[in-house]
Amino acid sequence: MRDRLEELQSQGLAAIQQAEAEEGLRAIEVRLLGRKGEITSVLKSLGTLPAAERPLLGQLANEVKQGLAEALQARRSDLQALAMAAELEADGFDATLPGDPLPGGGVHPVNQVSRDLEDLFQSMGFQIADGPEVELEELNFDALNIPADHPARESHDTIWITPPDQRGAGKQGVVLRTHTSPVQVRALRRFGAPLRVVAPGRVYRQESLDATHEHTFHQMEGLVVDRGVGVPHMLHAMNTLIEGVMGRKLETRLRPGFFPFVEPGFELDARCPFCKSGCGVCKNSTWIELMPGGLVHPNVLRACDVDPEEFSGYAFGLGLSRIVMLRYGIDDIRWLMSGSLSFLRQFHP
Ligand code: PHE
Repeated sequence: MRDRLEELQSQGLAAIQQAEAEEGLRAIEVRLLGRKGEITSVLKSLGTLPAAERPLLGQLANEVKQGLAEALQARRSDLQALAMAAELEADGFDATLPGDPLPGGGVHPVNQVSRDLEDLFQSMGFQIADGPEVELEELNFDALNIPADHPARESHDTIWITPPDQRGAGKQGVVLRTHTSPVQVRALRRFGAPLRVVAPGRVYRQESLDATHEHTFHQMEGLVVDRGVGVPHMLHAMNTLIEGVMGRKLETRLRPGFFPFVEPGFELDARCPFCKSGCGVCKNSTWIELMPGGLVHPNVLRACDVDPEEFSGYAFGLGLSRIVMLRYGIDDIRWLMSGSLSFLRQFHP
């Protein structure tokens, strides 16, 4: 019986290897392993053997059965793979040809400038702060020394979340933030003084759109609160910032500017980097308005539980979108949020 099994095994394996199609394999399977198959009948006849021989031969028979079943399975998948390859080749498919390249993504120019500036400020010991774009009226205005009846509110063409009939004194309205300044309040309330933060982010205003006005744009807020902080510290930070973005020093000047949350308040202008005697970018003045700033108003410090007798600070509000346009020579702000691929691809050749 042992010889018979071994013979079945070697013949079976050879037949399986030679089979060229599924039908052939199926026939071999039936002939050997089917209900009336040859291995099956060997297994059935084990009962006729002397008891001492049964276990060893039984084991052998099962091993042969198992080995043949596995060989059948392996040959089956080989045949399937061959059939698929043949079909693909008939289609003219060549798996060795190089594929189509995937279009690569890239960093948006606004994010690029923002990241560069974040790196610069982090190197000077600033933290990066963040706040929500859907902001409480209290943080966007009141805590920044802009109470409900203050005319400065009207200069921000606010996009309200709260419907008109639910707004007013004593009510907690919600707005799309009109500037990144509420992050001053959030950061100061959360971390206390002394503090150094920059907060880049998106802001929203109801604007009539043109080449310099967009309803969605970017700012970067800076805030330093410490003992003995004054205007020279602010000027130094602003000049470092301009050098960092533009890659070189620009002559700057301070003009007075009014913002309820700073006192004194300033506008920083820089010499136009594009001309010597006037051009379209500087509207023929050779100066461009780059960023407002000032010393933090004592009322803002108080609203954040910081004692204005002990601490002072400066804040600035960089128009990030503006800086991006200057750096890359973009003449229409609406490109920035357009999502236009032909525009964006220029930054990632
Ligand atoms: N938040 C002001 C604006 O958007 C800019 C600003 C920031 C001014 C910080 C002074 C200090 O108009």
